[in-house]
Amino acid sequence: MMEVKQQLLVCGAIMGGLSRPSWAFLLLMLTVIALLGVQITTNTVFPTWVGGGGSAEETPSSRRSCAGFFREGTRRKVVMSITDFGGVGDGRASNTAAFRRAIQHMQGFGERGGAQLNVPRGRWVTGSFNLTSNFTLFLQQGAIILGSQDPKEWPIIEPLPSYGRGRERMGGRHISLIHGDGLTDVIITGQNGTIDGQGKMWWDMWWNRTLKHTRGHLLELMNSSNVLISNLTFRNSPFWTIHPVYCSNVVIKNMTILAPLNAPNTDGIDPDSSINVCIEDCYIESGDDLVAVKSGWDQYGIAMARPSSNIIIRRVSGTTPTCSGVGIGSEMSGGISNVIVEDLHIRDSAAGMRIKTDKGRGGYISNITVNNISMERVKIPIRFSRGANDHPDEGWDPKAMPKVKGIFISNVISIDSLKAPLLEGIEGAPYEGICMRSVSILGLAPAAKWNCEFVLGFTHGVTPLPCPQLQSNRSSSWCSYS
Ligand SMILES: *[C@@H]1O[C@H](CO)[C@@H](O)[C@H](O)[C@H]1NC(C)=O
Ligand SMILES: *[C@@H]1O[C@H](CO)[C@@H](O)[C@H](O)[C@H]1NC(C)=O
Ligand SMILES: *[C@@H]1O[C@H](CO)[C@@H](O)[C@H](O)[C@H]1NC(C)=O
Ligand SMILES: *[C@@H]1O[C@H](CO)[C@@H](O)[C@H](O)[C@H]1NC(C)=O
Ligand SMILES: *[C@@H]1O[C@H](CO)[C@@H](O)[C@H](O)[C@H]1NC(C)=O
Ligand SMILES: *[C@@H]1O[C@H](CO)[C@@H](O)[C@H](O)[C@H]1NC(C)=O
Ligand SMILES: *[C@@H]1O[C@H](CO)[C@@H](O)[C@H](O)[C@H]1NC(C)=O
Ligand SMILES: *[C@@H]1O[C@H](CO)[C@@H](O)[C@H](O)[C@H]1NC(C)=O
Ligand SMILES: *[C@@H]1O[C@H](CO)[C@@H](O)[C@H](O)[C@H]1NC(C)=O
Ligand SMILES: *[C@@H]1O[C@H](CO)[C@@H](O)[C@H](O)[C@H]1NC(C)=O
Repeated sequence: MMEVKQQLLVCGAIMGGLSRPSWAFLLLMLTVIALLGVQITTNTVFPTWVGGGGSAEETPSSRRSCAGFFREGTRRKVVMSITDFGGVGDGRASNTAAFRRAIQHMQGFGERGGAQLNVPRGRWVTGSFNLTSNFTLFLQQGAIILGSQDPKEWPIIEPLPSYGRGRERMGGRHISLIHGDGLTDVIITGQNGTIDGQGKMWWDMWWNRTLKHTRGHLLELMNSSNVLISNLTFRNSPFWTIHPVYCSNVVIKNMTILAPLNAPNTDGIDPDSSINVCIEDCYIESGDDLVAVKSGWDQYGIAMARPSSNIIIRRVSGTTPTCSGVGIGSEMSGGISNVIVEDLHIRDSAAGMRIKTDKGRGGYISNITVNNISMERVKIPIRFSRGANDHPDEGWDPKAMPKVKGIFISNVISIDSLKAPLLEGIEGAPYEGICMRSVSILGLAPAAKWNCEFVLGFTHGVTPLPCPQLQSNRSSSWCSYS
């Protein structure tokens, strides 16, 4: 049973032959998108609020920003270096005690103007440590924080109440390398320093089935607000890389997130039961979804009822050969609404935009706006799916159907695609208000057809010809949301 579940957490098989996009290709893409963009202004059927209220359509992509999601405070009163706390950046000595001492010291400045901990050039090995409020962790140029290779330095903590157990194993879970709970005003930034989780040990334990507890994240913040994560490289997370859960006002900007393309479940960024989260200008390549919006798992997520809402994912690019550019779900039992996904470039991936849910999830996915996505060599550019019997325990409720309503997808171009949209809703709970316009899936075999089950909606200007379920001819208000 456990073995079956473990396999289900992997998105699929590994694909080879990856390369970076050429400038010529990008130019072609921009031209085609510009041409497609012209169509949009000539049609009035699409709801005016698509794209975030209309005004977004007139603002050039490069100028739209996460401003407003994070409130910058005053400069930190105290700035100290990890070396002030006995840190040694030689790539061997453990700095766990140094980081913990530093944070404890800096906690004392929370109400007295805040503090900043600098990490200078060097290789700083450490076990897990917690952050504090009114605090900046600053990685100077050449600074590399390395995750400890001793699992005991990643102690076990309680499972999240919205999951009821560890995501991979029953019971508690390993704490993240960098952790925070109940914080306000936290900045993690620097001059392109690196936080490297050295996750290989954990991936091996997963592959060889010796993992006893769910793997830890590289960075997890719980119950926290006003958070900025920027200008750094995160790599080799044991599990999902950045996990804000029960948080609000989180900005993740100008980050590079890397993991080997076959490293299991190394999602880039997973906003989970969080509101007002803005992710922009990130490059991500990993063995799982680049970004996945979540909100708890089956009966535990339903009981907790903490939605993810007002989420922006913008100017993200990258590759994930077995998973999706942006995933919504599959854990979505607290509800997910008001998500904007725009200006993405996804290449060499299994899926581009994917909505995942299942019987037993309950909750809802609504008002998801996806606009201006370019893809190359993405097997299934647009995919909705209905899960694979992935439940926390026997206590899930087969009658808890998720409600999926109001998915607006526009200005998508995908070249060298393998499949037309594959849209599988749930019997007895069809996905409604699925609206697509100016969607071109190119490079398909002539016989390639849309594959739709239990979905209802409307399309305009899509190639190839959509499935009959999305040729519905209702009134123009069909695509508006109520
Ligand atoms: C953080 O700083 C703000 C403003 O100075 C202060 O009101 C608040 O109490 C501080 N929070 C903590 C947890 O120290
Ligand atoms: C960090 O916080 C977690 C819970 O939020 C706690 O279990 C753990 O003991 C803390 N670690 C340290 C070193 O304070
Ligand atoms: C964080 O939120 C969870 C879920 O609401 C709760 O169980 C936990 O006690 C909270 N932690 C703190 C420090 O408030
Ligand atoms: C992005 O971060 C890099 C360092 O990682 C920095 O050099 C660059 O200036 C940043 N770009 C912007 C637009 O802030
Ligand atoms: C940041 O550092 C990583 C390697 O650690 C490098 O791949 C990347 O190009 C750097 N980014 C910038 C903007 O300097
Ligand atoms: C599984 O992988 C871990 C981490 O690399 C290693 O320590 C352990 O010896 C391996 N166990 C088996 C049975 O292969
Ligand atoms: C990123 O780094 C650049 C260059 O140092 C700086 O101008 C910018 O303010 C930083 N951005 C954030 C969000 O930290
Ligand atoms: C849909 O989401 C967008 C973007 O988050 C928001 O501006 C709009 O108000 C939402 N519409 C409804 C009806 O909730
Ligand atoms: C579409 O997204 C690309 C990034 O993939 C961006 O360069 C371009 O400006 C966006 N187009 C519009 C009209 O915003
Ligand atoms: C469906 O749409 C076509 C073209 O827009 C229109 O001619 C036709 O009357 C519509 N049918 C129904 C049943 O509304």
